[in-house]
Amino acid sequence: MSAADTWLRDVFLYGIFAVAALYGYKRIFPGHLRSLNKRLSAWLMSKVMWRVHARCSEEKRLLFRDFDKITTQDERGPHILEIGVGPGNNHTHFPRPSRMSCIEPNSECKKYLEQNLRETRGVKLVQFVRGFAEDMLDFEDNTFDAVVCTFTLCTVRSLERALSEIKRVLKPGGVFFFMEHVAAPTSSWQRRAQDRLNVIWPAMTDGCNLNRETWRFVQDAGFSSTNFTHFSIKFRLISFKAGLYGTAQK
Ligand SMILES: C[S@@+](CC[C@H](N)C(=O)[O-])C[C@H]1O[C@@H](n2cnc3c(N)ncnc32)[C@H](O)[C@@H]1O
Repeated sequence: MSAADTWLRDVFLYGIFAVAALYGYKRIFPGHLRSLNKRLSAWLMSKVMWRVHARCSEEKRLLFRDFDKITTQDERGPHILEIGVGPGNNHTHFPRPSRMSCIEPNSECKKYLEQNLRETRGVKLVQFVRGFAEDMLDFEDNTFDAVVCTFTLCTVRSLERALSEIKRVLKPGGVFFFMEHVAAPTSSWQRRAQDRLNVIWPAMTDGCNLNRETWRFVQDAGFSSTNFTHFSIKFRLISFKAGLYGTAQK
């Protein structure tokens, strides 16, 4: 057997061994891998997401200017719900004072959020709910002055359900703020690349979709008005370049 053949055989055998060991571990300790995965992804988000936000800083400034439109009689300030909050990259734009509640499936994010909130005076965390945008049963109808969601609508399982829940929990006149990476224009080569890569991308990334036409869903969700802008995110990766930010008012 040549050296190359021996090397190939070893790689193959070690590969089988690694897959079998991982499978066995998953069967014996099903909770362990899940919790490890959650811890790892919360940590990764805390290291990566602020860089994504830094690349959209001008658009975020323009988006969150619309907080000026929100008025409240409550001296504690508006109550804002952030969906899929991750480690918390938006609260520095919130009015002061304000109250913040969150819904996020990964409870490991809470410690990063609390850490970030400690550095921002005037924004008080009211409630951190472990859950999904599609099913916000912990929150009553007409509760929030604003809902904020950034880089999360690409991942939700049902965009229609999530938007219907967002509308339900907003007070009449309340505003939904969003910023997302979305589908590139139809028939562009960027869109073709997104469509092809999206065959495997969601499976590799906990459900992130590259080619969602998110603006269409927002327009169809029954808000009284919607306002959005397409922009180019300063990423090298072409699949993430098409950006969208905007507001929708209940
Ligand atoms: C790419 S991260 C963005 C985090 C944060 N919004 C930001 O902009 O830095 C996506 C977040 O959405 C959360 N998420 C995934 N599916 C969700 C769902 N169905 N409902 C609410 N949040 C979800 C993930 O756990 C993760 O924290």
